[in-house]
Amino acid sequence: MEKLLSEVLERIKPTPEEKEWEMSIAEWVKSRLRRVMPKNVEIEIVGSIAKNTDLRNDRDVDMFMLFPKGTAKSELVTKGLAYAKKAVSPHPWQIGYAEHPYLKAEVEGCTIELVPSFRITNINERASAVDRSPLHKKYILSKLDEKKCDEVRLLKQFLKRLGVYGAELRVEGFSGYLGELFIVHYGSLIELLKHSSNWSRPVIDIEGYHSEKEIREKFNAPLIVIDPVDKNRNVAAAVSPVSLSKFILASRAFLRKPSKGFFFSEDKEFSKKELSEKMMSRGTKFVALVFPAPKVVPDILWPQLRKAAGSIAKHLELSEFKLFGYDFWSDENKRCVVLLELSTYQLPAIRKAIGPAVTYEKDVGSFIRKHRNAVEGPRIEGDKVVAVERRDITDAIVLIKKIIKNPGSYAIPSHISKTIKKGYVLVDEDILKESFNEFVDSYLTKREFFINDLI
Ligand code: UTP
Ligand code: MN
Repeated sequence: MEKLLSEVLERIKPTPEEKEWEMSIAEWVKSRLRRVMPKNVEIEIVGSIAKNTDLRNDRDVDMFMLFPKGTAKSELVTKGLAYAKKAVSPHPWQIGYAEHPYLKAEVEGCTIELVPSFRITNINERASAVDRSPLHKKYILSKLDEKKCDEVRLLKQFLKRLGVYGAELRVEGFSGYLGELFIVHYGSLIELLKHSSNWSRPVIDIEGYHSEKEIREKFNAPLIVIDPVDKNRNVAAAVSPVSLSKFILASRAFLRKPSKGFFFSEDKEFSKKELSEKMMSRGTKFVALVFPAPKVVPDILWPQLRKAAGSIAKHLELSEFKLFGYDFWSDENKRCVVLLELSTYQLPAIRKAIGPAVTYEKDVGSFIRKHRNAVEGPRIEGDKVVAVERRDITDAIVLIKKIIKNPGSYAIPSHISKTIKKGYVLVDEDILKESFNEFVDSYLTKREFFINDLI
């Protein structure tokens, strides 16, 4: 085990040269920023490079502009972004809006995030969503030595391989800070996995701020980890039941059969012919709805896409088509896809409407009125009135096309509504002519890489 982990670490720990180079770019931006900003605004590098928990080839620098408390929020944002633009030009930049606006610049292959925030020393002074970060850095630096920082790196890589690293809404997984807290609490990756492999409704409160009863009353989430710098926050709030379950099972599998496969994936040979055979041998109907990605940040795109796919699925079922499964995908830039697999995609021209039991006088009356022109009936079946009527839509594809023409009527969220109208529909093998075969493949092979290690 020792040997395995040290070999993994060798591949994921930034080299001293890489680190020096990244820091020199960060320092360059910092000095430019220093020149354009008034003295009362401080600059601090936070995030994983400051905490020594960064991974190799992850060139991301989080730089905070710390305005004095009492600065108006609007001033902090406008001035902060204006200073940041000046400091990074002529390098390309864009503005990112998650819950807090910041400037994201590309300097020599490094992504520098310049974040305006308030300078606080006590969490009670917090005035914006990001103000905690410098406190996180301070806490982590006081708790982790070099060895433990390496344990954090191993954990981050483990989570990445599993597809659950990151608190973004696309992933709904474990943030870097959450990983750091696990190591603060358990000391090493292996100790963490020994616990996580047996987790059931886990609660972690490192600083012992609350009783377990208080925590359960206050927070409701599959995993609860109290933030040591803010006892009112669950650091694991973003972790979905699926992400947590994956982590629990992978922990168990790794302890049974540790291997490098838990940190790195092998490049899989991709065969379009095999994929096509896999698809067609299921005897179902595949429909892909392809449309332009709306120009919104990922944290808005993914929940809207998830909701849109769910609404389409629901309306297909409401019209009595049978859905075997569905999934959605986006490159976050050009397009989105909703993939639907139908086990029933064509319905007969008629359907039977089941009415009320004959005892309900009023309801029977209105049912008969409504079905006066029925194809057959209304008549009695058992103790109920029934009628055979004509169906509006007999083909699932017709319904899908109707939905994309008028998305507002089918609970499709706002941004997706605008672009889905420009979408088109592909059926069965035609789907594989597009460039998202890996997504289709992942839909067809929803099997965790470690699953055989559990038997
Ligand atoms: P990052 O997402 O860049 O995390 O957020 P990181 O710690 O630097 O890790 P990697 O290596 O880049 O992935 C920067 C800071 O924002 C806060 C933390 O303080 C983190 O250090 N943060 C971010 C959270 O507290 N929770 C989150 O979900 C995301
Ligand atoms: Mn970072």
